[in-house]
Order: sequence, then structure tokens, then C-alpha cells
Amino acid sequence: MYKKMYIEEGKISYQYYLGNGQFLMEVFSPQVAGRALPGQFVHIACGPALSTDPLLRRPISIHRINKEQGSIEIYYLVVGKGTELLGMKSAGDNISIMGPLGRGFALEQKAKKAVLVGGGMGIAPLLALAQELAKEGKEVVSVLGAASGAGLARAGAFLAYGKLIEATEDGSRGLKGRVTDHLEASILGNDTLVYACGPLAMLRAVAEMTGKMGVPCQVSLEARMACGVGACLGCTCVSTAEGAYPKVCKDGPVFWTSEVSL
Ligand code: FES
Repeated sequence: MYKKMYIEEGKISYQYYLGNGQFLMEVFSPQVAGRALPGQFVHIACGPALSTDPLLRRPISIHRINKEQGSIEIYYLVVGKGTELLGMKSAGDNISIMGPLGRGFALEQKAKKAVLVGGGMGIAPLLALAQELAKEGKEVVSVLGAASGAGLARAGAFLAYGKLIEATEDGSRGLKGRVTDHLEASILGNDTLVYACGPLAMLRAVAEMTGKMGVPCQVSLEARMACGVGACLGCTCVSTAEGAYPKVCKDGPVFWTSEVSL
């Protein structure tokens, strides 16, 4: 079922540059924030007001939700023209936000412990999830990795919600190696649900590990998107059900590993 979404003129409360092309922005957008759930995303018009360049909105994960204040945070990486324009905006600027979009993480699960596995910018949607799970009284363990320490600019924020394990491929921060090198059986264990977001190779490895152990796992997928609402078929992925091609923007971005072929 498709939930209600809004197109709202949001006002930027702050924008910080975190280094290495990463930005953290808070937007006052009370209608979107009021309905947003962890794992959903927003579609943002990144160009100047009233401009149609770039024509397409950019899909960006919701990083943190503050329903009381009516704001959301986004944490994004400059990867092209749209995000470059977004990075030039400042506090007080308005931006057109469409959302919240997509199917977020499944929250009402029985497992007592949640292991959040994030690689690179895949860390972005997991903070709102950690916040919500901690509120529900779950034990939260966040295992976050990046190529180097610069990619873990937002990792510290997860400490407010549980245990944090950091890993970098070059060993410049936390444990050396990939997140999957540090997902030991003691971390996964019984009565655990795993939520993962990051590069496809990481998701495949996490799905394989959790599958072997019989631990349920949800993954948040990335895809190139145009419409963001299930109309253009530009973001399909491959289902485990024969002949089915779910849309990442509408049927996801979050799927159970049993639902999609990674
Ligand atoms: Fe158009 Fe998903 S982006 S269907």
C-alpha cells in the first residue's frame, strides 16, 4: 500500500560540510517529518528556486527524524550536478522536498537485538533506525565501515543509541578491514535481526552470512531513480519470485533478503 506523501517547501536550518564531499543538512519540513519512517527517502529539487535545471529530483535517504521539531536531517555525498548544487545551499534557503517515499525498515519485530551494518554512505539511513529501535528498548549494535576514517564522519552519532563498532579498509580508524570481517557469530547470535545498507558486494556478503546462520535480514537498496514514485520503471531490481521486478523506489528501498536477488 502506498502511503501519503507531500511536496513541501522546506527551509534549511543548517548545512555543514563534513569533509570528503559529505554534507549534513537539516530541513524544517513538518509535513514530511510528521510521516517519515526510518529507511524512507525524500526526493529533492536541488537547483535554484523556480529553475528546472537539473530537471530531475535527487533521491536522498532520511538520516534522522525529529517529529517534535518538524525537521529531518539528510547526510549525503556530492556525486554529480544535483548534489553539488545542494551543497551550495545555506541555512535559510528553501528547497522543494517530496516525501516521505518508499518502504522503510520493518520495526515491529520480536527480536531483542538489532545489528545495523552500514558501509560508506549506506550509513545514512541507519541513524533514524538506531534512534527508533533504541526508543523501542532494543539492544542496538551498529557495525559501520568505510574505506578510511574520513568516511565515518557520522559514526559517532550512533553511540547515543547503543554499541558502535567501526571498521576501515585502510585501518585509519577502528578495526582494520571490512564490516563483514567483523560480523562475528557473537555479534549476530540468536534473537537478532540484521539491517544492512551499503555497496552491493557488502549486502551480498551480509545476506550470505545471515542466511547461513538463519538470522533474518533486511537490506536497503540503492538505484538510479527518475520519478521516485513507481511510475517510470527506472529503478527495478530482481525479485526471488520468478518474473517479478520490484521497484526500489516504491516496493523498497528496504527488502527482506528473501525477497530480492542481490
Ligand atoms: Fe520511477 Fe522507481 S524511479 S519507478
